[in-house]
Amino acid sequence: MSHHSNGDSTVENGHVTKENDSVTPKIGDVIKENNDVITRDVPPALMPVVAGLTSKPKRVPYWYLYDTRGSEIYEEVVTTSKTYTLWKKEYSVLQSHSDDIASKTSSPVTLMELGSGASSKTRLVIEAMLKRHGTLTFIPVDVSNEHIEEVSKQLERDYDGLTAEPFGGLYMEGVRHLSTRKESKMLLFLGSSFSNISIYEQVDMMKEIRAQLTAKDRFVMGLDMNVDRESLLKAYGQQWVTFQKDNPIRRLNKDFDGDMDPAKFELITDFVENPADGDTPSYVTGYWRSLAAQRVNFRKLGLNLDFQSGEKFSFLDGPNWSCKWNLHQIRRLAEKSGFALEDYWTNDAEDYGMVCLAPVP
Ligand SMILES: C[S@@+](CC[C@H](N)C(=O)[O-])C[C@H]1O[C@@H](n2cnc3c(N)ncnc32)[C@H](O)[C@@H]1O
Repeated sequence: MSHHSNGDSTVENGHVTKENDSVTPKIGDVIKENNDVITRDVPPALMPVVAGLTSKPKRVPYWYLYDTRGSEIYEEVVTTSKTYTLWKKEYSVLQSHSDDIASKTSSPVTLMELGSGASSKTRLVIEAMLKRHGTLTFIPVDVSNEHIEEVSKQLERDYDGLTAEPFGGLYMEGVRHLSTRKESKMLLFLGSSFSNISIYEQVDMMKEIRAQLTAKDRFVMGLDMNVDRESLLKAYGQQWVTFQKDNPIRRLNKDFDGDMDPAKFELITDFVENPADGDTPSYVTGYWRSLAAQRVNFRKLGLNLDFQSGEKFSFLDGPNWSCKWNLHQIRRLAEKSGFALEDYWTNDAEDYGMVCLAPVP
């Protein structure tokens, strides 16, 4: 067994040196039992997390941040923060335009919400659709499946005429599920959550969504258009530490019997500005930075992870945490993926946009 014990290792100049051993693995290398991570007790859904832990740079998929506790913390931050105003801006657009959104659909209608979370803003759209159509089937799609089960029960209690069919899974699994429906469909993607998709995968995801929709279906998406660096750095600052770092590290320790210490990592964020006339949006980025050279042990996986001091650990699926758009970039995204921009609504400050996309036949 080529088991690497930490007992006789020392750290020098960013390297682990094992005494009396010709192999000097760099810190950052994955050290595993039998050159293999033990995965027999890992549920299939968590395998991408294991793959992320053992990749370079180390990472977790973005969806991993949203267990039930993560979803609750997220909702608390976005609804109460004084500096993260995205939730409130989108809410104000929906207050003014939910009837316009509902008018895009014909009866009977199915409303699917991707990354629905607490569906708190969605209530405005649900109310407008029920006013228009009398009945509504609502399919919230979210990886935080227990959370949306609870939310769905509450929505059904609150609204006569509403049938909620929660779908616990990843975005595209939900979209493929929707495509089997014959009735008119509206796909809703709120919270600028599309902006969390890697900039390298956004067009492909949109094309895939387009392929699952028919000409009478509509895709309504909320996108943040604030590109003011100063306000963004405040919005994406230390108020996110519990959601973005401490809770996922707690989850990693629980899922894989680990000893990762959240206090030994810090959350770093930055704003990357791209040309306004280019196709790529600007974006807020972020990562966890190891505050020391350290070894983390995930006993369930038989996995030791060594971190250099200052090493980055990514919780994003691409370089972007949250994209910040302008209208040109939104139009180009639609054009490249087979959609026409049918309608566009903003808040008073015009720094939050909601687009209604129609599939181009
Ligand atoms: C930014 S939050 C938005 C929540 C809510 N829609 C809002 O506007 O406040 C993203 C939501 O998408 C879910 N989510 C993240 N990645 C996902 C994925 N790949 N597939 C399905 N759901 C995902 C999260 O659990 C979370 O509820």
